[in-house]
Amino acid sequence: MFKHFSRSLSLVAIITVVCGAQSLRQAADDAGLLVGTAVRPHLFSESAYTQTLAHQYNMVEPEDAMKWPALRPNNSTYDFRQGDEVVRFAQAHRMKIRGHCLVWDHDNPDWLTKDHFTARQLSRILHEHITRVMTHYHGEVFAWDVINEATDENGKVRDSIWYNQPGIGLSEKGTAYIEQVFRWAHTADPHALLFYNEAEGEGLNRKSDAIYSMMKSFKRHGVPIDGVGLQMHVPAIDADIDSIAAEVFANIARLTALGLQVHITELDVPLTVEPDGAVRPSDLARQAEMYRRIVRACLNNAGCTAIQTWGFTDKYSWIGSHSHHTRGAALPFDQTYQPKAAYRALLEELSAGRSPRSDH
Ligand code: XIL
Repeated sequence: MFKHFSRSLSLVAIITVVCGAQSLRQAADDAGLLVGTAVRPHLFSESAYTQTLAHQYNMVEPEDAMKWPALRPNNSTYDFRQGDEVVRFAQAHRMKIRGHCLVWDHDNPDWLTKDHFTARQLSRILHEHITRVMTHYHGEVFAWDVINEATDENGKVRDSIWYNQPGIGLSEKGTAYIEQVFRWAHTADPHALLFYNEAEGEGLNRKSDAIYSMMKSFKRHGVPIDGVGLQMHVPAIDADIDSIAAEVFANIARLTALGLQVHITELDVPLTVEPDGAVRPSDLARQAEMYRRIVRACLNNAGCTAIQTWGFTDKYSWIGSHSHHTRGAALPFDQTYQPKAAYRALLEELSAGRSPRSDH
């Protein structure tokens, strides 16, 4: 009997080795890392959506449900219904929740941008928003994108309603307003991990250099910050995947060397889409390679602790509307929730875990 038992045990072991993990979630759990996706709560009524989500991911982030337009119908009211739906779903499926985003120059409601508030009023409005929202989600949202896209492509602090148009009273004082919002956020929820989230600063360029300098200075001056979010919307076509992967690895390495965590927050790899929705098979293969190499760059840095895509099915992705439907098919599952080559690349890399490889 024992012989029989041990034979079936070794059979299980062989199947696990040969077939690998059965989901991204299982592979990420085994590797001790978070694998997440942006979600839209109004889609929770679609069973293929929720089943895939719960099976494949151990983290979610509301794509829009915790942004100002959802939370703030007007200056005196908060509406947490959509955000709370995400929290309920995540808790029911034992998933972590990343919050996004408290301070951004985009996607702000008209009452905020058109009412000509003074700097003093804006400072009060923003401080109150951060405090109220983080208090509401205390103990539920474990990490927040406190500020999103605050640096321009030249590495300068980006003009914005919160910085200098008219700002919160720290106009033309460089990164002082960013420091201020991190301090407010830390006071609001001292247990939440606080992230600076940015686009197009994933590799090595003027923007990522500026972010690195800001992080170095924040760490030196005791600004409460825990990590950097690298958005990672990365087209694969006409891209030199080798050099992108090497730069992303180097950028993550220098940020984590400061004692910060890095989360890949919005990974997607848009492809050219024909008017009939078709994509070239060779593009799908390049896309898979891009996913593989980005995930590997994260896994090979111990301080890179989460990998998240911006949605998971091509049925629902911001890329289509954002590109007038000339680009799309950017995610690991197709329109019918079938796994693509990109999914298999993700699964293989996550299953291989953190063991460093020479190719970054
Ligand atoms: C996008 C959402 O995906 C869309 O649904 C919404 O209409 C606009 O915002 N960088 C970010 C995200 O940080 O918040 C953006 O999300 C995509 C780019």
